Amino acid sequence: MIAEHKRRVLVTGGAGFLGCHLVRRLSREGWDVTVLDDYSSPSPLADNLPATMVVGSVVAPPPLDGPFDLICHLASPASPPRYLLDPVGTLRTGGEGMRQVLDLAAAWGAHVLFTSTSEIYGDPEVHPQPESYVGAVDVQGPRACYDEGKRYAEALVYAYRRAGLHRRSSVVRLFNTYGPGMHPDDGRVVTAFLGSALVGQPLPIFGDGSQTRSFCYVDDVIDGLMGILAGEFPGPLNIGNDVEVSMLELADVVERLIGSTGRQFLALPDGDPKVRKPDLAAIRELTGWQATTDLATGLSNTITYLRELT
Ligand SMILES: NC(=O)c1ccc[n+]([C@@H]2O[C@H](COP(=O)([O-])OP(=O)(O)OC[C@H]3O[C@@H](n4cnc5c(N)ncnc54)[C@H](O)[C@@H]3O)[C@@H](O)[C@H]2O)c1
Repeated sequence: MIAEHKRRVLVTGGAGFLGCHLVRRLSREGWDVTVLDDYSSPSPLADNLPATMVVGSVVAPPPLDGPFDLICHLASPASPPRYLLDPVGTLRTGGEGMRQVLDLAAAWGAHVLFTSTSEIYGDPEVHPQPESYVGAVDVQGPRACYDEGKRYAEALVYAYRRAGLHRRSSVVRLFNTYGPGMHPDDGRVVTAFLGSALVGQPLPIFGDGSQTRSFCYVDDVIDGLMGILAGEFPGPLNIGNDVEVSMLELADVVERLIGSTGRQFLALPDGDPKVRKPDLAAIRELTGWQATTDLATGLSNTITYLRELT
């Protein structure tokens, strides 16, 4: 009997928060997984991943044991405190990292899944944000290193497509994702609130707390990604949860789950978007996917994870 070819996938950034979940899911579904990660921000869940681990940067990848059928390109600094530490490095990962991935994919005939971001909509004047919205990013603002790096990376994917340089690709724009595996000190609001509440500190609220976000639980995001991979949909497609909450409402839920530890109001960071909510009509129509985990359940799971870490 001829052994069936096991499909091979390269996951860049596979040691990160989303990467760990995606690697485990792909492995469970029969993929032979290799991870390329520079370990600049590995998740606490990155131990014992069911993958061949290669340490290196996507900007200048080490030799890789190709060919691969699929490249899931997640490698990027992702939380504001981290990407602001090295703005030039962030832009290089966004731009040059993407080009390296696309050239490898062209050589191997691989499909590319690229995790872009809702940040490419900037501080949006259209609400909720459909994929057709071109965005309002301040190129001079501090967050431009991340936002414009991702915009450039998307533009590269579309340019390679137009030029017929790679087989197929899928672009997804992820909105705020949370859950077990997050870096406890990543500076994002979910870990900042939960981390503070768990040690009896006041919740740090930027501005007056009226700004909104839409939080999607990590398992839902992975389901969405798998649906897009199965259909090889080109996108760009938003993935997120369209239940929008203000930071004050998020604080209310955290206090219900952990107890009140007070609130501390801080200056709003430069360039912080006021609203953010995905228009999900496109992915629903194509794949039928929608997020199913409510905020209280997702936060409870995240609290359990954070407690186990300490
Ligand atoms: N988590 C979210 O809410 C969210 C939202 C929108 C988009 N995204 C995107 O999803 C992807 C994964 O995000 P995450 O939350 O898991 O972030 P993360 O920081 O947990 O994971 C990113 C991984 O990439 C690695 N990495 C960074 N730069 C690299 C480089 N040059 N070469 C190789 N590896 C590198 C890090 O070590 C880390 O393991 C990122 O591309 C991010 O922009 C995430």
